[in-house]
Parts: sequence; C-alpha cells; structure tokens
Amino acid sequence: MGLNVAIVGVGPVGDRILRCLKERSFPLAAQPVVMATTARTEVLGDEEVQVHKTAPELFEGIDVVFFAGREGAKGASREWADVAIKAGAYCIDNGSDFRMYPDVPLVVPEVNMDAVTPNTKLIASPNCSTIQMVVAVAPLHRAAGIKRIVVSTYQSVSGWGLKAMEELEQQLCCLARGEEVPFDPCVFTRRICLDCIPHIDRFTASGYTKEELKMVNETRKILDSPEMQVSPTAVRVPVMIGHAESVNVEFRRPLSAAEARAILSDPVQSPGIVVMDGPAVDPHATASRKAPDELQYPTQVDILQDEYKDLVLVGRIRDDETVDHAINLWVVADNLRKGAATNVVQIAEKMIERGFWPGKV
Ligand SMILES: NC(=O)c1ccc[n+]([C@@H]2O[C@H](COP(=O)([O-])OP(=O)(O)OC[C@H]3O[C@@H](n4cnc5c(N)ncnc54)[C@H](OP(=O)(O)O)[C@@H]3O)[C@@H](O)[C@H]2O)c1
Repeated sequence: MGLNVAIVGVGPVGDRILRCLKERSFPLAAQPVVMATTARTEVLGDEEVQVHKTAPELFEGIDVVFFAGREGAKGASREWADVAIKAGAYCIDNGSDFRMYPDVPLVVPEVNMDAVTPNTKLIASPNCSTIQMVVAVAPLHRAAGIKRIVVSTYQSVSGWGLKAMEELEQQLCCLARGEEVPFDPCVFTRRICLDCIPHIDRFTASGYTKEELKMVNETRKILDSPEMQVSPTAVRVPVMIGHAESVNVEFRRPLSAAEARAILSDPVQSPGIVVMDGPAVDPHATASRKAPDELQYPTQVDILQDEYKDLVLVGRIRDDETVDHAINLWVVADNLRKGAATNVVQIAEKMIERGFWPGKV
C-alpha cells in the first residue's frame, strides 16, 4: 500500500524531491514517475532514473503530482496541472504561477496547513525566501501580532536553477586558473562570482523586483494578514546552496528579543526551527587559548548538514533599539530543501495524516 507519485521537472528541485521521498520513507506504491520536456535517463537522487517526456497518459492512476518545472505560459504546471487534476491527482506546485489565485492555498505546513481542504486539488508552495521567513516569524506573529517586516535576503545561485550553479562553478574555476571569467547575461545580469547582485527576477514599475513583491504578497496570504507591511530587498550572493535573511520585525504588542528567543526555542510553538544563538563553543579551546567570547549563529554552510537541511535556522536575535516592540533576526535555510522540495513533501505527508487517501495509506 502507498501512493502513486509523479514528479514533473528534474532540475535541482526535482532531484531534491526524489531524495526527500526516499529519506523520509514516504509511502510509495511504486517508483515515482519522473517527467520533463524530453525522455532520457538521468542520475537523480544518486540513482539512474528513467525520465519520461511529459504526456497525459502518464498521469493516469497517479495520486499526487509534485511540480518542479519552469514557470510561465510554457511552464510545467500551466501546461499539465489541469490534465493531472482531471486524471484524479492532487497537484502540489513549487512554481509561482498559481500562488496568488484566491482559490489555491499557498501552504507552509508549519504555519497554515488548515488552508488545504479535501476539495483542494491544486496546492501552491511559496517562494523559497518566503518559506523560511514565515516559518521563523509565524510563531512570533501568533504571540505579538506583526505590524511590519523589513527583510534583506542573501540568496544562493541554486535559487535560479541548475544553469546558475554551473555558471558559478565555471566562474570559480576560471578565477582559480587566472583566466578571464565568462558570464551569460541570460542567467545573471552580471558576473556573480565575487559579487552580490541586488536584482532577482525582473524589475517592476515600482522599482521592486518580482522576487521582492512575491515576499510581500505571499507573506500576507500565508499569514492571512493583508494589512501586514513587508519591505524587502532581494540580493543574489555567490553561494551555491542556502539562503540567508536579515529580518527586522516590528510587533503590535511588546515582545522582547529574550521572549522571542524563548518562543522560537520551543518546538511545540515553533516547529521546524533550530535556534543557534547561544555562546559559541570552540572545540579548539585550551587553557592557553580560551574560547573567544563570541555568539553562535547559523550560516549557509551549516544548513547543508544532514541534521539541519529540512529545518530553518535562526540566530542573531536582538532587540531593535531604535523602535518600540521590534527585534532583528538572522534566518537561514536550504532553498532547495525546506525552500522547495521538503515543503511540498511535507504538505503531502500532512495530507496523508489528515486522511486524504483513505484505504491507500
Ligand atoms: N531553486 C529553488 O531554490 C526553488 C525554490 C522554490 C521554488 N522553486 C521553483 O521550483 C521549480 C523548479 O526549480 P528548479 O530550480 O529545479 O528549475 P530548473 O533547473 O529550471 O528545472 C526545471 C525542470 O522543469 C522541466 N520543465 C520545464 N517546463 C516543462 C514543461 N512544460 N513540461 C514538463 N517539464 C518541464 C525542465 O525539463 P528539461 O530538463 O527537459 O528542460 C526541467 O527539468 C521552479 O518553478 C522554481 O521557480 C525553485
């Protein structure tokens, strides 16, 4: 017994969905059906996998489809979600195409799983930078009501897709060999290696990028707070995997950094979070070389460790001494795992728990 699963898209997110299903012992009736724009074999999740050219008959008998394809008119979910739903499948989409549709729930399981009902056939998963921020701020919002968020992101190149990871790797190799560093302006507008680019997705007339507006609109939808003020700046940094965010949160009611730290450290109030904000432990400290008196904090390298890759790490929790009832946080997560693949697999796991497939699991 188990579910028949399909995955559409075999970029870094599709690869991580396959890994998540295996690592989390997702109840599968058979090997997932994997699809892309062309048929071929590919190594995914460390195994050679048959990739099928996406076709209507491949959705027959499938219980849940994870979409990890490109976005837009010719993107995977625009082209195939309707077909999959008509064939009887629930669809969970990593892309942005349907996120703001009023009848499509936009879900982070730690925050708003109740938005999914048995009548929901299409579920959207938020943008990676939105997911990690709302996991971190939702418990604080429940405690003190968020009035305003000011966020700056430090987003890795894998958020763009496989081509961007290959480009950064190639640029680093050229740099190491002392060669001229090439770049493809269709990936990033500038050379990303040794630089930070305050430009993710297209600019809109307001001067904000579409990535930044996703953080505004998606946060309001997930937290069911249309009035919440969110002021974002999204920046691409030369990191392969993992996004970090500096988040300033102003509350409607008093909440100190110490109270926020206690809330975020409580796994019942704050599922999916690890707080790294205590005194640093220096394994090399000796009697003559004392541990430096520094604080612990998470970085994009920490998030790649097995124990953290499905979690959101929070540190640098401080009172904002310039505004009443405000704090600062540093939030880190793996954009391919919790920011995408883990989130969609967790949504399906919760649907199983809630009895969406009676008699099958
Ligand atoms: N990367 C992240 O951090 C992240 C985080 C959250 C959400 N997302 C979203 O997740 C999705 C996948 O991201 P990614 O980085 O893995 O993308 P990617 O590297 O661009 O890979 C996209 C995959 O989708 C397939 N595809 C595209 N159009 C298709 C269509 N019409 N029918 C069937 N397959 C199609 C492509 O097939 P071919 O291989 O045959 O070209 C490719 O395998 C995107 O919507 C992205 O916005 C990404």
